[in-house]
Amino acid sequence: MSVRAGASALPARPEPTCTCVVGLQWGDEAKGKLVDILGDQHDFVVRYNGGANAGHTIVWGDRKFKLSLLPAGVLKPHLKSVIGNGVVVYPPRFLEEVEQLRAAGIEVGSNLTLSDRAHVIFPHHLEEERLSESGGEGAIGTTGRGIGPCYQDKVGRVCGVRVGDLLRPEALRERLRFIVPRKNRLLGALADGRESRTFDADQVCDEYLALGEKLRPHVVDTTHLLLRGLGDGKRILFEAAQGTLLDIDHGTYPYVTSSSSSPAGIWPGSGVPAHRVGRILGVVKAYSTRVGRGPFPTELSDGPDGLGERIRKTGREYGTVTGRPRRVGWLDIVATRYTAALAGADEIAIMLLDVLSCVNELSICTGYEIDGRRVAEFPADAYSLDRVKPVYESHAGWGGVDVTGAQKLSDLPDAARRYLDRIQQLLGLPIRVVSIGPDREQTIFI
Ligand code: GDP
Ligand code: IMO
Ligand code: MG
Repeated sequence: MSVRAGASALPARPEPTCTCVVGLQWGDEAKGKLVDILGDQHDFVVRYNGGANAGHTIVWGDRKFKLSLLPAGVLKPHLKSVIGNGVVVYPPRFLEEVEQLRAAGIEVGSNLTLSDRAHVIFPHHLEEERLSESGGEGAIGTTGRGIGPCYQDKVGRVCGVRVGDLLRPEALRERLRFIVPRKNRLLGALADGRESRTFDADQVCDEYLALGEKLRPHVVDTTHLLLRGLGDGKRILFEAAQGTLLDIDHGTYPYVTSSSSSPAGIWPGSGVPAHRVGRILGVVKAYSTRVGRGPFPTELSDGPDGLGERIRKTGREYGTVTGRPRRVGWLDIVATRYTAALAGADEIAIMLLDVLSCVNELSICTGYEIDGRRVAEFPADAYSLDRVKPVYESHAGWGGVDVTGAQKLSDLPDAARRYLDRIQQLLGLPIRVVSIGPDREQTIFI
């Protein structure tokens, strides 16, 4: 074969037809609302990381849906919803969510697929997490859904079980007869004299084989399903769980989750090559929240009568999964500039702007000082982050004006528009969406 001078030796890459909606803070940025809205422009909606630690709330008028494990696309039966191989699945939770949706009149059938490569969460994972988290020292403040122990077993390989294994009775029994006694010994050691549960391999096996049969209609090789879809020109929307600051590699380690919650997780977590993702929408709350332990430079720790509590109450900032009050603070540009760059965000959505109507003066963190020295970049370690003194600039609020009915940017008070302009300028990215209430109608597209 000869190659003409000047002609490209490589064929042109296919057009990227995928989008990712990703949180740029510590989760709960209202990704679910955006996935629900953007789903209509896609054929597939795919979860690629995490598990039932996520809590995505979607509001349609007077109807409210809370999804933990299932992708938000499942609310629309004409879309294909996929739980990719990078997700960790607790089968009882999967079935419970499906039942809840059916009870609410949402059709769930072959539109929902589950990867045969996704890893399975067992009761011993939940117990392992309970023992680790209740030991005081070293606790992360997790959601208690078995996420960390399951990912540990996936990466460790010795004790991992995949969804496809639940459909092979003899192999599963053999495997669990090896795994469960090992886990019992581990649980005894972790308990260190405290009460702890132990498990019977055959009983666990029988229970999980029965669960496997219920999952069977949904289990497929989702990697090939998605790759075939791409070949047919289908559009895929990736729904990240958690936020980029909780990413196992790039977040505020060790106070993170156990998966790649940035778009970096798409390729390993779904099989879809990164270059097929042409659009990354970074989701940012108009302020910051965090659930669980770990550094939070802009946290408002100003007590029960303070601004933090006022924002928490107005924004109903209580965890969807655990009901824990979310920690609240000002918008942190140093952190968000870092996560936007890391995530490769092309554009930004600013969510829950309406909540800030409850404060008269707003602060934006534009810089960090550590031990009296100005720091330009987001530090890599929790130790340094704990010592950050935020540098703030102040902005006038919009004095209690209700913005929840705004249809377009010009309906917003000047002070709200100035706040958005400043965020856009500081991040150097265009704001494409402004959300001013939980309902899908309460959204301004720019
Ligand atoms: P996710 O995990 O990123 O999907 O976010 P969550 O669903 O955990 O948290 C976002 C919460 O804010 C949910 O209860 C949403 O219904 C709600 N919400 C979404 N957008 C807005 C908004 O613009 N204003 C207000 N007040 N609430 C919103
Ligand atoms: P969505 O998708 C907010 C937090 C937990 C804890 C840490 C580790 O709704 O944005 P884990 O159970 O994952 O081992 O807990 O991560 N966390 C979240 N915080 N939103 C989430 O998901 C979260 N998923 C996990 O609170 O601090
Ligand atoms: Mg959430």
